[in-house]
Amino acid sequence: MRSLWYGNEFKLGVLGAGQLGRMLIQEAINWNVHVYTMDSDPDSPCSKISHQFTCGSITNYEDVLEFGKDKNLITVEIENVNLEALEELERNGVEVFPQPRVLRIIRDKGIQKQFYSENNIPTADFRLIDKKEIFSNVDFLPFAQKLRTGGYDGKGVQIMRSESDFEKSFDAPSVLEKFVDFEKELAVIVARNKKGQVTSYPTVECEFNPDANLVEFLFSPAEISHKIEEDARKMAIEIIEKLDMVGILAVEFFLTKEGDLLVNEIAPRPHNSGHHTIECNVTSQFEQHLRSILNLPLGATDLIQPGAMINILGEPNSSGSVFYDGLEKLLNESGVHVHIYGKETVKEFRKMGHFTITGLNLSEVKQKALRLKGNLKAKSVS
Ligand SMILES: Nc1ncnc2c1ncn2[C@@H]1O[C@H](COP(=O)(O)OP(=O)(O)OP(=O)(O)O)[C@@H](O)[C@H]1O
Ligand SMILES: [Mg+2]
Repeated sequence: MRSLWYGNEFKLGVLGAGQLGRMLIQEAINWNVHVYTMDSDPDSPCSKISHQFTCGSITNYEDVLEFGKDKNLITVEIENVNLEALEELERNGVEVFPQPRVLRIIRDKGIQKQFYSENNIPTADFRLIDKKEIFSNVDFLPFAQKLRTGGYDGKGVQIMRSESDFEKSFDAPSVLEKFVDFEKELAVIVARNKKGQVTSYPTVECEFNPDANLVEFLFSPAEISHKIEEDARKMAIEIIEKLDMVGILAVEFFLTKEGDLLVNEIAPRPHNSGHHTIECNVTSQFEQHLRSILNLPLGATDLIQPGAMINILGEPNSSGSVFYDGLEKLLNESGVHVHIYGKETVKEFRKMGHFTITGLNLSEVKQKALRLKGNLKAKSVS
């Protein structure tokens, strides 16, 4: 029988049309997989490069149902989508990967933490609170307050060190998570197809920008012991298997000063911590995502060369039409791979693109990353 996806009739729908969808399309073109995207922003990064773009709300029941009804397969580039519509589509025979059941666990950080507890997956202690209850949790300080739903890129996370920080707290259902004085933040990407084949990528190390509260640098491979590398990859595989999930899953860890691994959070889609795989690994995370949801053999994940990934964030106080300053200078350097996402407008700390630096060894790559990190700036025209 001819593979279902191999043909012009096959329609892959993606909810969301940002940079993750855009890099997925770059891979899908190689296999002539037609990608249809939907997003409420008519100027979103995929809008001009999708096989077809639909302007609609990915959180609205009718919009998602209407978008999905003529697709063979639906995937997502963000967790915050209308699950009731996806469940209805599943009942009507449309394949949805990752499964709505899995999205339901992951998109609520409270349910996600309970999943770890129930499955004996090591994670920092936590409490769930409703609105306003933060004041009765002084005994739990210091902790991170995390919005249960809707947070992204560090926007729903605040560190509470003392009672005086409660002034800035979110007044919404949240997870309070014990503050972890970590040594490093690590991430592992795993993928699983419908046949149950599973694969993991080498562990990477992330460095956060404390002002923006999101990844500034990523280094691959992580400088950790063989044992921690193995444990992290084993734990990530255990999670995707326990979720019985199809697709790609990014697992973020804290490595504590005592050398223990704690799961911070998981994301059931291509992830910022896997962008370097485009240049550094045999199979990129975007190709792997396609392979997993299309039930194809998973690709090799081996590292070809070490790399550093640097996010290009909107400059402080920028707002309006974007222009990029420094591209020419950056491209003068060897081993620099630039990805600009095509967002029309820039805002402070908005993810506008990234670049990956590759080299012969990690120390050379790290030095270059430090030297070049501020060289490409996303500024506003005015
Ligand atoms: N319990 C904690 N202790 C110490 N630092 C924490 C804790 N929880 C979160 N952080 C810091 O805040 C960052 C963002 O937290 P988290 O990953 O939960 O949020 P997010 O908004 O979903 O992130 P993103 O979308 O950027 O991955 C973490 O990467 C870490 O640097
Ligand atoms: Mg995170």
